[in-house]
Amino acid sequence: MSLKGRDILSMRDLSRPEILEILKASRALIPVAEGRRPSRALEGRLLSLAFFEPSTRTRLSFETAAKRLGARTITIVDPAASSMAKGESLSDTVRMLSCYADLIVLRHPNEGASRLAAQLSDKPVINAGDGAGQHPTQTLLDLATMEERFQTLAGLRVVLMGDLRYGRTVHSLAHALGLFGSELTLSSPERLSLPEEVRRDLDQMGAKVTEQPDLEKALRGADVLYVTRIQKERFGDLAEYAKVSGSYRLDPALLRNMKEKFAVMHPLPRVAEIPPEVDRSPHAVYFRQAFLAVPVRMALLSLILTGRVPPGGGR
Ligand code: CP
Repeated sequence: MSLKGRDILSMRDLSRPEILEILKASRALIPVAEGRRPSRALEGRLLSLAFFEPSTRTRLSFETAAKRLGARTITIVDPAASSMAKGESLSDTVRMLSCYADLIVLRHPNEGASRLAAQLSDKPVINAGDGAGQHPTQTLLDLATMEERFQTLAGLRVVLMGDLRYGRTVHSLAHALGLFGSELTLSSPERLSLPEEVRRDLDQMGAKVTEQPDLEKALRGADVLYVTRIQKERFGDLAEYAKVSGSYRLDPALLRNMKEKFAVMHPLPRVAEIPPEVDRSPHAVYFRQAFLAVPVRMALLSLILTGRVPPGGGR
C-alpha cells in the first residue's frame, strides 16, 4: 500500500515492508541530507511544523529535511505567540494549519492529540510526539541507526533502559522491535516500568521480553543499549519525580567487554544518564542517530507527499 497521503500517528500505522521501504529510501537520501547533492523534489510544497512542547532534534530535522528537498515550512514554536494563548482550541488550530499547509507535523503534550488532529485535518498528519504516547518518526530513525550498524534488523538483542513508563520513544520502538523479532530486555526502576498496554501489545506479537533491573546482567550478549531520560515533565507530582531522579546512569566501565558492534543509543536530549566520557567510546552512536533523523524524515515526507522516493540518492 502506498504511503501517499497517509497519517503517521503510531508505529502500528506501518507494516514491516513499509518500514523497510522508508529505511531503504532514507539510505539513498544520505548525500542529500549531508548537502552533497541538491534536490528540489518537494519544491512548491509547504509543511506546517506545530510544536506545543520543546524540541531541538525533531523540529529542526523536519525543517532541514523539508528545506534540503526544496519545500518550505511554517511553524508554531511558541504556543504563547499563537492564538491558543487567547483560548483557541487545538481543534480549531489544526483546522487552520490544514487550510494553509500540505502536511502537518504536530508535537503536543496530550496523548492522542495527533489522532484528534488527523480526524480534523484533510491533510496528512505526522505525530512528532504526543505526551507519553508515541513518537513514531523517532523509531524510524532508531531503526535506521540499528540497520546501518548491523546491516539487519532481524533478531537483535536490545536492552531498553530508563524511563520506560513515560518515554514515548520506547513505546513506539518496542512495537517496531517486536515486528522485527528482537529480544527485548527491560531495565528500569520499578516505578518507571513499561505501561501494561505496551507489554500486552508485545505479548500479542509473541515478542520475547524479559525484565532485568541490574544493567550489568541485562547487557550480557546485548547488541544495543537504548537509554532514555527520566521524563520529568510528565510527573504530575514532583515528589514522585524526586523518588526516581538520578536512579540510573550508564557506568562507562560496563562498555569495556561488549561486542565490537555493540551500540549505545539515546533519542536525546540526555541529562545525566549517559556521562559525557561515553561520547568518545566507539559504541556511542547517539549523535549519528540524531543525524539520521534528516534522511529518514526526508524519505517519509517524500513518500507521504508524492508517493515516490526522490531521485538524487545512491552512494
Ligand atoms: N528525540 C527527540 O524527540 O528530541 P527533541 O525533543 O529535541 O525533538
